[in-house]
Amino acid sequence: MTTPIPARPVKRRRLLKTALIGAPALLVAGAGGLGIAYASAVTDTSGEIDFKNPLNVPPLAESTVDAEGRRVFELTLRSGSRQFKDGAATGTWGFNGDYLGPTIRAARGETVLFNIHNTLGETTSVHWHGMHLPPTADGGPHQSVHAGTTWSPSWKVDQPAASLWYHPHPHGETARHVYRGLAGMFIVDDEESAALALPKTYGVDDFPVIVQDRSFDGDNQFDESSGLFTNVGILGEEILVNGTYAPYLEATTTRVRLRLLNGSGSRVFNFGFTDGRGFALIGTDGGLRAEPHGTNRIQLSPAERAEIVVDVAPGEKVILRSYAAEDLDIDPFSQRFDGGDDVFDVLELRGAATLTESPAVPGKLVDVPKLDVDKSTETRKFQLSGFNLNGKSMDMDRIDFGVEKGTVEIWELENGDQQFHNFHVHDVQFQVLKVNGENPPEHLRGWKDTVYLRPGGKTKIAMEFKDFADPDMPYMCHCHVLYHEDQGLMGQFVVLEKGQKVGKPPKDGGHEGH
Ligand code: C2O
Ligand code: CU
Repeated sequence: MTTPIPARPVKRRRLLKTALIGAPALLVAGAGGLGIAYASAVTDTSGEIDFKNPLNVPPLAESTVDAEGRRVFELTLRSGSRQFKDGAATGTWGFNGDYLGPTIRAARGETVLFNIHNTLGETTSVHWHGMHLPPTADGGPHQSVHAGTTWSPSWKVDQPAASLWYHPHPHGETARHVYRGLAGMFIVDDEESAALALPKTYGVDDFPVIVQDRSFDGDNQFDESSGLFTNVGILGEEILVNGTYAPYLEATTTRVRLRLLNGSGSRVFNFGFTDGRGFALIGTDGGLRAEPHGTNRIQLSPAERAEIVVDVAPGEKVILRSYAAEDLDIDPFSQRFDGGDDVFDVLELRGAATLTESPAVPGKLVDVPKLDVDKSTETRKFQLSGFNLNGKSMDMDRIDFGVEKGTVEIWELENGDQQFHNFHVHDVQFQVLKVNGENPPEHLRGWKDTVYLRPGGKTKIAMEFKDFADPDMPYMCHCHVLYHEDQGLMGQFVVLEKGQKVGKPPKDGGHEGH
């Protein structure tokens, strides 16, 4: 007896791509084969999703305040299973639950303490993406949390209100750990943002929207095996939002704020609404913008965030879609095979029959002071090529460079390949100065911690290293296409006091749990 396996265009696309990137296969395929492969290498789910599941809104993480006034959170990493689709439940990993984690919320000025319990049976780490914090609390590959242990980082939150996130960062295993479900949103609040007339009631008019591509095998399990042969790793052919398959969100207000996070390992999304409606882009990775920017598309590469406010009418239905990318600046062949032509129906936004009136989006949001690049003393160049940063593969024992505390640096990021990369820097939020010599487009103006890098292009960014000098404990900078990162496209840097020398990273991958 053979079990029938449903036809899945998904698989075919990967196999074809695998064949195509091998030169001999390419020769054999010939022009006709190439044409067929190209034509079938696109995924398009527009109009095919039934949107029958209410969007899961991750609960806000509970916390207590300890004797020293620290806000204490407990996060347990565990395995589980979730019913995403009809049929078998899917084996998953999550924080305090089956899949993803609670939304953490803390205000600027608060000291937070996390007790991270690892019950997964293997070593991982938990990184606070976008957070300004000491390198020992960062949760990068040196802060291993071994199986069965607890890690307890603490720091004072001191940065503008923003939609940050958290995810594992074990060297070489990040893609797999995130793919299985380990990720969550971390919302920072501050007084300025609290005073603005923006939608801000969590789960009522203000929603995290964590968008992830996943592939399911014939048994509804996450398909982790096929990524090895693509240029960018696993490209899932189905979408989960906050861990919900085919989700709808019923709005009860005339405006909703969506905190979009591209939580995929490798895929670039190009979000817009199916009726072409505009929305206000109010925030980027590291905080609110100076003023809203009206647009009808927002492109996000892996790990990038955007906060948008969109109008809703009573009783209507409109779909948030990820359109074929328009701004990858990549050759048509790579665009097609790295998922840039794919179209996904992501989330159906429904207006309730009657809606509560929301205030208009303020014309001015917050101060985004320009970094003083004139006083910058250091310009560094980084080339991303293959799986290397400046020709080198990540080495846990090598600190690549040191920056001086209290200085503004300019980094020139060059994508030396004909495929896409992006770039993420730990500890700081940066400002994009130039993209290929031009002033950055609107959606890159504002605090960023991750930026898309055009193939063959140059992107200039500026950042300030304000605190936390430590000659021995590095921060990471890397491509956030997780497959590239895992393969070695990552470097390590330390923040130094003036005159201090780069030290030595800890031997055993750092922290031992207790
Ligand atoms: Cu979101 Cu170094 O990672
Ligand atoms: Cu990359």
